[in-house]
Amino acid sequence: MDRMPAPRSLYVHVPFCAHRCGYCDFVTTSRSPEIHERYVAALRRELELHGAGPEGGYDTVFVGGGTPTLLEAPAMEAMLGWIGELAAPDAEVTIECNPETVDVALARRLVDGSVSRVSLGAQSFSPHVLATLERRASPDTVRGAVATLRDAGIERMSLDLIWGVPGQDLADVARDLDAALELEPDHLSAYELELKPGTRLAHRFGTDPAIAVGEGADDLYDLVIDRVQDAGWWWYETANFARDEHERCRHNLAYWTAAGWRAVGVGAVGMSVDPEDDQALVRRANLPNVPRWLDAIERDELPPARIEQIASHAARSERVMLAMRLDGPVRISAADILDGIVDASGLERVVDLGLGDARPVADADGIMRGDVELRLGRRGRMLQGSVGTLLLDPEG
Ligand SMILES: C[S@@+](CC[C@H](N)C(=O)[O-])C[C@H]1O[C@@H](n2cnc3c(N)ncnc32)[C@H](O)[C@@H]1O
Ligand code: SF4
Repeated sequence: MDRMPAPRSLYVHVPFCAHRCGYCDFVTTSRSPEIHERYVAALRRELELHGAGPEGGYDTVFVGGGTPTLLEAPAMEAMLGWIGELAAPDAEVTIECNPETVDVALARRLVDGSVSRVSLGAQSFSPHVLATLERRASPDTVRGAVATLRDAGIERMSLDLIWGVPGQDLADVARDLDAALELEPDHLSAYELELKPGTRLAHRFGTDPAIAVGEGADDLYDLVIDRVQDAGWWWYETANFARDEHERCRHNLAYWTAAGWRAVGVGAVGMSVDPEDDQALVRRANLPNVPRWLDAIERDELPPARIEQIASHAARSERVMLAMRLDGPVRISAADILDGIVDASGLERVVDLGLGDARPVADADGIMRGDVELRLGRRGRMLQGSVGTLLLDPEG
């Protein structure tokens, strides 16, 4: 029996896409409108199979994809109906939205459903970059989608951008950021393109960004941070910016603080605290196969999944690594150093290299017991992956 309280965040994966973009390796499948209602009913059933939800309802729900906004109207209404019932009254309910799927009817359906926040995949406002990424929406389609969603009453809006695309120069990225900010969203995600093995972009350009993007690649991230911060925004996470502190994505904060979340849908990945050891974590990844996922749930069984036990040592490392993604001090306890989670000489090296400051802090009883607060500077935050290697795996 699960003795831990149910996670307060819920991820719902909707895998349908009209076509596969050249860079994407997320779990997606073809549009398949004939199975949408069946799929949504199975999502609800999978959630029941996981057990009761949290008391008072989920604090955050994130419907991601795939392209959730491809769902046919009856399936979308059914899904938003049960999400509304399961969410807390002041929950953050986000749905990912592809600009070319937005019309007045869809926007109304989202607002009448339980959606409080839309994350819109703009990616770029440069036609040649959109063409390289094999996106279907033009810059004007993105602008039109923002206006339609806003007119319908969507309260909070986030835009996704991608930088580091082959052929995209500094001027293109600057224009993308200005165009995005001009639309006055509340939140921006600016992801560095990952050239994922097996995608069409990786076949064309290889998987090494330094080669695929060429000179200036390192300057792109600097430009992104400068431009968005100069607009008065808060760079609160490696790839995420908020207009103010209330606009941070509460759902993603649950990921970055390893707070645990439930996940349903084909290929969905959830995380929970191990009921046997509250330092350890359990990651459950549903297999990415729609027929097998549907068949299992329709037999009233949890779908086939890869279950990974993350023992307390590895889970503590993962928490430090995730904490470094966020703006704000990273607490390293004396026990983290004693137990070899964090390497003391690695910590010194991070400070010596000017990547951050470490200062001793008192524990909860006000006693200095060797706890340290690490505050990464701008370079340290930009190089967060390498800082993690120095701290957690100095031999690596
Ligand atoms: C999985 S997509 C789903 C959202 C929606 N279908 C769309 O395309 O806008 C979520 C976001 O992940 C980002 N993304 C997907 N593949 C990526 C990659 N290979 N590198 C960087 N960002 C990526 C994109 O910015 C995208 O908006
Ligand atoms: S980027 Fe979005 S629309 Fe494109 S294939 Fe991936 S999930 Fe589908």
